[in-house]
Amino acid sequence: MQPVKIGLLGLGTVGSGTVNVLNRNGREISRRAGREIVIAKAFTRSPEKPRLCPTDNIDLVGDPFQLVEDPQIDIVVELIGGDSPAKELVLRAIELGKHVVTANKALIALHGNEIFAKASEKGVMVNFEAAVAGGIPIIKVLREGLAGNRIEWIAGIINGTGNFILTEMRDKGRDFADVLKEAQALGYAEADPTFDIEGIDAAHKLTILAAIAFGIPLQFDKVYTEGISQVTGEDVRYAEELGYRIKHLGIARRSGDGVELRVHPSLIPERRLLANVDGVMNAVVVKGDAVGPTLYYGPGAGAEPTASAVVADLVDVVRVMTADPEHRVPHLAFQADALSDMAVLPMAEIETAYYLRLSVADRPGVLADIARFLADQGISIEAVIQKEPQPGQAEVPLIFLTHKVKEKSLDAAAAQIESHPAVKAPMYRIRLETLD
Ligand code: NDP
Ligand code: HSE
Repeated sequence: MQPVKIGLLGLGTVGSGTVNVLNRNGREISRRAGREIVIAKAFTRSPEKPRLCPTDNIDLVGDPFQLVEDPQIDIVVELIGGDSPAKELVLRAIELGKHVVTANKALIALHGNEIFAKASEKGVMVNFEAAVAGGIPIIKVLREGLAGNRIEWIAGIINGTGNFILTEMRDKGRDFADVLKEAQALGYAEADPTFDIEGIDAAHKLTILAAIAFGIPLQFDKVYTEGISQVTGEDVRYAEELGYRIKHLGIARRSGDGVELRVHPSLIPERRLLANVDGVMNAVVVKGDAVGPTLYYGPGAGAEPTASAVVADLVDVVRVMTADPEHRVPHLAFQADALSDMAVLPMAEIETAYYLRLSVADRPGVLADIARFLADQGISIEAVIQKEPQPGQAEVPLIFLTHKVKEKSLDAAAAQIESHPAVKAPMYRIRLETLD
């Protein structure tokens, strides 16, 4: 049988990793796929740039549309990232009846509804395992392995760069900016690293996970998104003192008639497995009604871990490319005409416990005033930390752990607290997830 010919759009970290994995494991992979898989062409803007993979047997082109249009190319693998030209290239490939594999979570989260509709119309597959949690096959788990369950909630560390930064801050007391630079050098970070540190990348991934878990359309604009840039080394240490770790979580949960979709730093009890997922590793807990909680762990970024998912998608496509399109696994797990319009809940209705950090003037009665503002909103305090002021400093940090409360009550208390003359800066809150 003729080999399947791949056109690779992008030869950066993941593109090079994909070439290396296919070169190294080609025989094993073709035994699985049933056909040889060959990278015939690759697009790069700068063919002279040194690559992390050999390119001698690949026809390098400088025009990505030329690659997509080439009738010899059976499957287009999009590893450029971002919105444009990735979207136009993917839509053109679909228009031409070609299957697509992509690692681009931004593309799927923002344009997936349109892309999948077009792909279904043309009878082609668009696979995107590498888009969420790097090398962990979490899309396959949700779409196929847990298909018998009603998924109740998902909580995951789904950004490798952010987890790497938080781990290095905690373990080595390293500076945020310095660790970010290292993550970029290691190929973990997005082209624009604010996507990693401000939670946008995790929100893209959560959008995809929630759609597949609950059978809802992709709705990135409804995800509450908060990054890790305000987490300080002191927060990390206070959390430890209280028996918690700070992790950047993506959470999707059925709640009443709606669904919570939120990405933010979270305190997690230190005994939880998720609290001990460190460095660039990702982990996703999925709670299904039949199976209970299940945990998936692995590298969340990097060349070959991500290539592992890209190549698995290629094998899947090759295995079923000749099958009747109606009988393939649906792109978003649920049949396209059976998606639910379940509402995404506003943050005001979310209920969690909180870690609160304040900077206050060190004088009598301040602690009592703040405790009263909290009590006025029915917020009960679980723990307080107040440290001695540093020599020469008139302000002290004040840390509270609260019991569970609706976010709107905390917002009301925050407004009162921040208007107190002894409170020197806006109160910083980190939500606390017990994950039970
Ligand atoms: P890189 O920046 O390393 O590589 C991107 C490639 O695309 C390069 O070949 C680059 O060209 C080309 N490219 C970038 N921007 C443009 C543009 N505007 N027009 C044309 N070509 C462009 O990215 P990664 O390999 O890290 O990421 C690729 C995709 O995989 C992204 O969607 C990313 O989110 C996703 N991903 C990345 C992971 C990782 O660990 N890095 C993990 C999981 C997913 P040139 O060669 O000329 O520089
Ligand atoms: N920048 C992403 C991360 C790459 O650090 O998780 C993997 O999606």
